[in-house]
Amino acid sequence: MLSKKLEDALNEQINKEFYSAYLYLSMAAYCEAESLPGFAIWMRLQAQEELGHAMRFFDHVNERGGRVVLKAIEMPPPVWKSPLEMFEQVLEHEQKVTGMINQLYELALNENDYATQMELQWFITEQVEEEDSAGQVVDQLKMVGDQPMGLLMLDKQLGERRAATGGEEGTD
Ligand code: FEO
Repeated sequence: MLSKKLEDALNEQINKEFYSAYLYLSMAAYCEAESLPGFAIWMRLQAQEELGHAMRFFDHVNERGGRVVLKAIEMPPPVWKSPLEMFEQVLEHEQKVTGMINQLYELALNENDYATQMELQWFITEQVEEEDSAGQVVDQLKMVGDQPMGLLMLDKQLGERRAATGGEEGTD
């Protein structure tokens, strides 16, 4: 059974994961408007992954006898100055999420909740991947600078991203 403290914190994290999905969908809309369809595909898939993360926490709270309480989702920004500024925000956001997951893990340790620690270990590994992939695109956008050809090539490359296959939703 989840402690009340952990239940509240996990409910807060469900909200943050939904916000992440909302943020990346907003970025997808911006990319569509900027005629960058490959960037938009990447963002849509990222938004789907975030929904998978939210549902993973949702299921965990239910399975542990807790009560899921959904809260209002904050409005994400609608526009960015450039694809680079947008991806820098992705990286910064994922670093913030990593901090939240680490704090949840600390709480699960303090509450002696071993099952939640196990669940959070998956997220700790996932965050390494999330930060790495966002950081890689930031580096590539810096290399591209203001060369339109480079940006179009990167758009093509990002458009090749495919949804995670196999296993449960949100495991990639
Ligand atoms: Fe749910 Fe991008 O971390």
